[in-house]
Amino acid sequence: MINPFGVRLRYCVLWILTVSSIVIVWVTWKAYGTTCATVVAAFAALVLGYYVWNARLDAWYHPSRLEAVRRMLDIAKPRPGELLYDLGCGDGRLLIVAARKYGVRAIGIELDPVRVCIGRILAFLYRVSKSVDILQGDLFQSDVSDADVVCIFLHPNLTGRLRMQLGSQLKSTARVVSFCHKIPGWIPSNTIESGKPGQPIYIYERSTCVSEVTIEI
Ligand SMILES: C[S@@+](CC[C@H](N)C(=O)[O-])C[C@H]1O[C@@H](n2cnc3c(N)ncnc32)[C@H](O)[C@@H]1O
Repeated sequence: MINPFGVRLRYCVLWILTVSSIVIVWVTWKAYGTTCATVVAAFAALVLGYYVWNARLDAWYHPSRLEAVRRMLDIAKPRPGELLYDLGCGDGRLLIVAARKYGVRAIGIELDPVRVCIGRILAFLYRVSKSVDILQGDLFQSDVSDADVVCIFLHPNLTGRLRMQLGSQLKSTARVVSFCHKIPGWIPSNTIESGKPGQPIYIYERSTCVSEVTIEI
């Protein structure tokens, strides 16, 4: 279930964007003529299209604070050579820190091609392109059976949906770190603060988290 407040907020933002786009295009047309207005209208259409696409897919982007990223990795304790996934990796910041600080191989799955592109550029600039892979795709179609650590920071709807997939794919030694939202039905082995009130970090050991998945099957 999508948070109804979130849906209302999205419609409000969409209305504000649409109305302000129309006003800006009209003002441009009056002041500078048809050619300028057409360019501005095309740009506004791109922005609106991008917003609607994100809203439809629940693909909202709230990058983790770097402090939270560091604490997520501290609690997961990845060892050199391990394989770490960030499902919905945004600009790949967690993958880059993990590769640089812990020497892991890191794979990110991200729906939004713009963020994938930014993440790949950042990985290149931080010289970790060899150990960081950012793949464009749907995390629900991904296979994380080879993961040692899975990190997530997703809308609660998505975290709930992901539980079944993680429960069936992960090996028994894998750890899952979830920022802000609990995985429903799983018991965290540890919970720590991320440095900001109300934004805890949960860690789950696949071997010990008691999962409702077992009961459901
Ligand atoms: C809250 S942001 C977190 C970004 C990043 N993990 C971080 O900690 O900075 C959630 C990200 O998940 C991505 N996302 C949402 N649904 C997805 C899906 N089905 N498949 C892949 N990525 C998805 C969004 O595009 C967004 O970049």
